[in-house]
Amino acid sequence: MSVFNSLKKVLKSEKSRNFPNDLESLWMPFSANKHFKKNPRLISRAKGMYYYTPSGDKILDGVAGLWCCNAGHNRDQIVEAIKKQAEELDFAPAFNMGHPKSFELSSKLSQIAPKGFNHVFFGNSGSEAVESALKIALSYWLEKGDVKKKILIGRNRGYHGTNFGGVSVGGIEKNRTQFNKFLPGVYHLPDTHNLEKNSFSKGQPHWGEELADELTLMVNKHGSENIAAVIVEPVAGSTGVLIPPKNYLNKLKKICDHNNILLIFDEVITGFGRLGKAFASEYFDITPDLICVAKGINSGTVPMGAVLVQDKIFEAFMNKEEKTIDLFHGYTYSAHPLACAASLAALKLYEDESLFERVNQLSKYWEDGLHSLKGTKNVIDIRNLGLIGAIELEPITGKPTRRAYNVLCEAFNNHKTLLRVTGDIIALSPPLIIQKEEIDQLIENLKKTLQQTE
Ligand SMILES: Cc1ncc(COP(=O)(O)O)c(C=O)c1O
Repeated sequence: MSVFNSLKKVLKSEKSRNFPNDLESLWMPFSANKHFKKNPRLISRAKGMYYYTPSGDKILDGVAGLWCCNAGHNRDQIVEAIKKQAEELDFAPAFNMGHPKSFELSSKLSQIAPKGFNHVFFGNSGSEAVESALKIALSYWLEKGDVKKKILIGRNRGYHGTNFGGVSVGGIEKNRTQFNKFLPGVYHLPDTHNLEKNSFSKGQPHWGEELADELTLMVNKHGSENIAAVIVEPVAGSTGVLIPPKNYLNKLKKICDHNNILLIFDEVITGFGRLGKAFASEYFDITPDLICVAKGINSGTVPMGAVLVQDKIFEAFMNKEEKTIDLFHGYTYSAHPLACAASLAALKLYEDESLFERVNQLSKYWEDGLHSLKGTKNVIDIRNLGLIGAIELEPITGKPTRRAYNVLCEAFNNHKTLLRVTGDIIALSPPLIIQKEEIDQLIENLKKTLQQTE
C-alpha cells in the first residue's frame, strides 16, 4: 500500500472529510511535488493565529499564510463582507465599466497611502502589480516624450513575482535559469546582504549605505537619459529577509531624483502594517513614484494586487482626447468585486483594531524573542524589523537549502508550526494580531525544531 493510501485510510478513520482523493493531478507551484505527495502537509481550516489540518492538528501560523493574512485568519468581518458581495454582485467588467466598490477602495487606499498617491491601478497578485508598475513606468517616459528611457534596474536577490518582467528585474538566478528568455536592457544593483559586516544586527544594519553608490556607477555607464526606473523591495522578503542598511534607501532615492529616474517600491510584503505603518515608504520616510501592493491588501482573502500611483505619473497619461484609452493594459479581474469588498473590510479591521500600531508595540518583544535564539544549533544569523524576522542557518555541505527544508517539515510535523523557508533561511512574518504568549510559543517551537533538525 502506498504511503498516500495508508495515510488516507488513517485520516478517514479520524473522520476527516477534508482529505482529497487524489494528490497527483495538482502541479503545485514552487514545490518539491514528489516529496510533498509522499508526505502531504495539508491545511483545511483556519481561525485567528492558527491553521488546522484535516486530522484536527492546530498549527501556529508564523508567516501569516504567505505574508498575507495580516488581520489573522477567517476574520468574521471580512468573511461577511465577501459573502454579502457575492450575493449582491459577482462580477463586473473592468474595461470602460465600473462598480462602486472599486472606486470606494481606490479612495480609501489613496487616503492611507503617502501624500500624492491619489491613483490606484488594480491587478490580481503581486506579480501583476509589478508587471503593471513596470509598464506604467516605461510608458510614462514615452508619454513625456523621453523615448530613450527604457532601461530597468533591479537588484540581486530581489523578488518581484514570477511574470517575465518581474523575473527580469528580480535577482534570483534559479527563477530565471529554467526559462531562458527575458526583458532586454535590465541591470541589477548588488544585494545588501553581508554576514561578515552585519550578522545579528537588530533592526537596520549599520554597514552598507555605500552599496547604493552602485546606482551612480550604472548611471555613468548607461546614461540617465536611457534609464526609466529602479525597482526594489524596501525590505527584501522572499530571498530571506534582507533588511536595508541605514540610509541606503534614502541614498537610492536621492540618486534617482538627481538623475530623473523613477523609483518603484515593491511593497507586496511590507504594505499594510508589517513595519508598523501602512507602508514601508512611510516607515522609512521615502516617497517613491510607484508602490506595488498585494497580499495584505485584503488580508490574503481574495487574489488582488495594485499599483499606487503618484499624481504626476497619472496626469501624464491624461493628455489625450477624451474617448481614447489612456493605458493599454489591464486584467479581466482588475478590481474584482469580491476582492474589493474583502479589502474594504480588511482596511476597516486594521483601523478598528489599530493593527499597524500594534506592530510598533510588539516589535521590541519580537526582536528580543528572536535574538534569544542566538547560539542555537546551526544558527549563523538573526535579523528583524517591525514584525518581520529571519534566522539564517549554516547550510549542509554540498546540499544548499536542504537544512531549511528539513526545518520546515520538522516544524510542521512535530512542533505544529508553519514557517516559510527560502534558501537556508527561515523567514517569519506572523499575523499582526499575534499576542506576546504566541510569540513566546513560536520562539519555543522554533528552538525545539532547530535542536531536533540535522
Ligand atoms: C516583494 C514581492 N513582490 C511580488 C511578489 C509576487 O506576488 P504574487 O505571488 O502575489 O504574484 C511577492 C511574493 O511574495 C513579493 O514578496
